[in-house]
Amino acid sequence: MFTAKRIMVTGGAGFLGSHLCEALLNKGAEVLCVDNYYCSTKGNIRHLRDNPRFELLRHDITFPLYVETDEIYNLACPASPIHYQRDPVQTLKTSVHGAINVLGLAKRVRAKVLQTSTSEVYGDPREHPQTESYWGNVNPIGIRSCYDEGKRAAESLFFDYRRQHGVRIKVARLFNTYGPRMHPNDGRVVSNFIMQALQNKPITVYGDGSQTRSFCYVDDLTAALIALMEDTPDEFCGPVNLGNPGEFTILELAKAVLDMTASSSKIIFKTLPGDDPARRRPDISLAREVLGWEPKIPLQQGLKPTIAYFEEKLRQGLADT
Ligand SMILES: NC(=O)c1ccc[n+]([C@@H]2O[C@H](COP(=O)([O-])OP(=O)(O)OC[C@H]3O[C@@H](n4cnc5c(N)ncnc54)[C@H](O)[C@@H]3O)[C@@H](O)[C@H]2O)c1
Repeated sequence: MFTAKRIMVTGGAGFLGSHLCEALLNKGAEVLCVDNYYCSTKGNIRHLRDNPRFELLRHDITFPLYVETDEIYNLACPASPIHYQRDPVQTLKTSVHGAINVLGLAKRVRAKVLQTSTSEVYGDPREHPQTESYWGNVNPIGIRSCYDEGKRAAESLFFDYRRQHGVRIKVARLFNTYGPRMHPNDGRVVSNFIMQALQNKPITVYGDGSQTRSFCYVDDLTAALIALMEDTPDEFCGPVNLGNPGEFTILELAKAVLDMTASSSKIIFKTLPGDDPARRRPDISLAREVLGWEPKIPLQQGLKPTIAYFEEKLRQGLADT
C-alpha cells in the first residue's frame, strides 16, 4: 500500500516555509507545519488548510515536541534583522534549543533532518565569493550575533548529532531569497524597496549603496531544498550554499524596483548599520555538482510576482500581516 511521506516543516508559516509546505504537498507528501507565528501569520498558509494532507501545529520549537515524521525541514527562526533583533535571546534559543529539539526528535524517530542555515555564518567575509570551506568572519558580540552565532552553533549541533548519534543530516546555507509572502514590514531589502516604491515613499539605501547582494527567487530555493533532502545520498550532509550567484549592488536593486513600479520615489542614503557585510555572493559550484541545481529565475522575472504580491497586500490594507 502506498503511504505518503510524513514531513514536518518548522517555521512552515513563514515566507520560505509556506512555499516549501506548498511544494511538498504538490509532491504528494503529508505535511505538518509547526510554527508559533513569532514573525508570520496564518495568512501565509490559509490556502493550504483545506488540503487533507496538511496539518498545522502552533508550537515554539525551543520546547521539545514528539511527533511521528520521516523528514524534518528546520526553518523556524526569525530571519530579518528587525525580527531577530527584537528579542535576541529568544533568537538564540530558537536556533540552539530549536536545533537540539529537532535533532533529538530526528534521533528518536530516525528521521532525516535539514537545517536552513545562512550565508550570515560567513559574517563580513574576507573571501569572495564564499565557498563552503570558508570559516567566516563573524563578530561574536555584535547586534547581529544572536542570529549569526545562533546559526553557527546550530550547524555544530547538526554535525555533532551526526558524528555522535548517526542522525542523517543536511545543512543548507541560504543566501538572500525573495518572493511573494515576504513580510511587508520586516525591513529586508527587497520587501523594503518594493513597499517604499509602491507607496511613493523615499527608498532608503544604507551606506552608499555599493554593497552587493545576490537575490534568489523563492521557487528556485525551495526546489534546491527538496533536491538536497530527496536526491542526495545520506553521506552528503553539506554544508551547501544555495542562492543566486548573480551579484547586484543595493543601488542597482533600488533602480530596478523603481523602474518596475513606475514609482516617483526618490532614493535617500542613511548610515550603514553595524556589521553590515560589504559583499555577498554565493559560490554554488557544490550545489551544481551534487544537486544538479542552479537558479533559473533572473531578478527582473522574480521581481514581477513579488511586486504584484505587495500591490495586492496594499490594496487589502495589509490585512493578515
Ligand atoms: N529568506 C532568506 O533570504 C533566508 C536567508 C538565509 C537563511 N534563511 C533561513 O530560512 C529560514 C526561513 O526564513 P524565512 O525568510 O522564511 O523567515 P520568516 O521569518 O518568514 O519565517 C520564519 C518562521 O519561523 C517561525 N518561528 C520563529 N521562531 C519560532 C519558534 N521559536 N518556534 C516556531 N516557529 C518559529 C516564524 O513565526 C516564521 O513563521 C530561517 O531559518 C532563516 O534563517 C532565510
